[in-house]
Amino acid sequence: MSTSQVVVIDHRAAELQAAFCEYVPRVFRTVDFRRWCAWGEWTDEYRTFGVMDDGRVVANASVSRMHVLVEGREVVAYQLGAVGCVPERRGQGLSRVVMEAALEFCGDAPVLLFANKKVLEFYPRFGFAPREQHEFGVSVSVEPAGVLAPEVDLSEARAREELVALAADGVAVTERFGARRHGHIATWYAAANFARPLRKLRDDAWVFAGVEDGVLHIEDLYAREVFDLRPHLSRLVDQPVKEVRFGFTPERWWPGADVVGEDTEADLFVRNLKLPTGPDRFPVMART
Ligand SMILES: CC(C)(COP(=O)(O)OP(=O)(O)OC[C@H]1O[C@@H](n2cnc3c(N)ncnc32)[C@H](O)[C@@H]1OP(=O)(O)O)[C@@H](O)C(=O)NCCC(=O)NCCS
Repeated sequence: MSTSQVVVIDHRAAELQAAFCEYVPRVFRTVDFRRWCAWGEWTDEYRTFGVMDDGRVVANASVSRMHVLVEGREVVAYQLGAVGCVPERRGQGLSRVVMEAALEFCGDAPVLLFANKKVLEFYPRFGFAPREQHEFGVSVSVEPAGVLAPEVDLSEARAREELVALAADGVAVTERFGARRHGHIATWYAAANFARPLRKLRDDAWVFAGVEDGVLHIEDLYAREVFDLRPHLSRLVDQPVKEVRFGFTPERWWPGADVVGEDTEADLFVRNLKLPTGPDRFPVMART
C-alpha cells in the first residue's frame, strides 16, 4: 500500500471525523474525541492521515499545526498524535504508511510527539530522537483562602472562545520550549475530562490547577501579562499545601523554581527540531 491510498480527514469532513472518533477508542481505550468534535473545536490546524477499510479507520497518524516557541523564537512546527493501528491489523505495515504520509505533509518543518512506553523503539525508525523532559516545582506553604477562584465551564462555547483568544493573544506560559495558540488542544483535555479545573484568577488570567496529594499542580496559564502568582495561590487550594508543581517551564511565572527531577512520564521525540540544552518542560496542555 502506498501513501496515495491514505485518507486525509480535516475540519470540513464531518462524516469522516465520525470514523476517526470511532477508531480512537479501539486503539486507546480511555481516549475520546467525540465531545471535542461536537464542541466544534476541530479546526484547520488539525488533520488526520488514515488507512480506511470498509468505511472504518484502521490505522492513523494525526497532525496538529503548532506555533512552537524555542528560546523566544516562534516556529511553525507539527505535533503528531493518535498514532496507531487497530489490534487485528498490526504488523502489516499500515502504521508505516500513515506515518510516512503525515511526515510528507510536515516536510522539513520541526515535528514533535509524546509517545508511550511501549513504542519507544518505533519512532526512531522515522527519524525521531528522544529528548528528556523535566519537572519543576517550588516548596511554599499555602493556606486556603476559604473561597476558590471562580471556575470556568468549558462546555460553554463562549468560554472556549475566550480561552482560545487568551491562548492566541496572551503571553506564552514559557518561551524556553513551549507553544502559543494551543487553545484548541487545551479544550480537548477538558472535553475528554482529563483537565484539572480551569479557574479565573483575574478576568484576563485563567489557570488550569488543582490539588493532589497535598501538592498544588498549576498545569497551564493563559494571561495577557505576567504577574506575581503568590498572592493568588490561596484561591487555588481547598486544603493546606506545601509544594507547587508546574506543567511547564516556569521561568516567567516563578523564576528560580527548582528542577525537581526528570519527567519520566513524558517520552518526547523530536525531528528537525534543535532544542537548547538544559531542563525544560513542554506545556502539558499543549501536548496531543
Ligand atoms: C506501535 C504501532 C502503532 C505499530 O503499528 P503497526 O501497524 O503494527 O506497525 P507497522 O506494521 O506499520 O510497522 C512499521 C515499522 O515499525 C516496526 N514496529 C512495529 N511496532 C513496533 C514497536 N512496538 N516498537 C518498535 N518498532 C515497531 C515494524 O517492525 C516496522 O518496521 P520497518 O517498517 O522499519 O521494517 C501499533 O502497535 C499500535 O497501534 N500500538 C498501540 C497504540 C500506540 O501505542 N501508539 C503509539 C502512541 S505514541
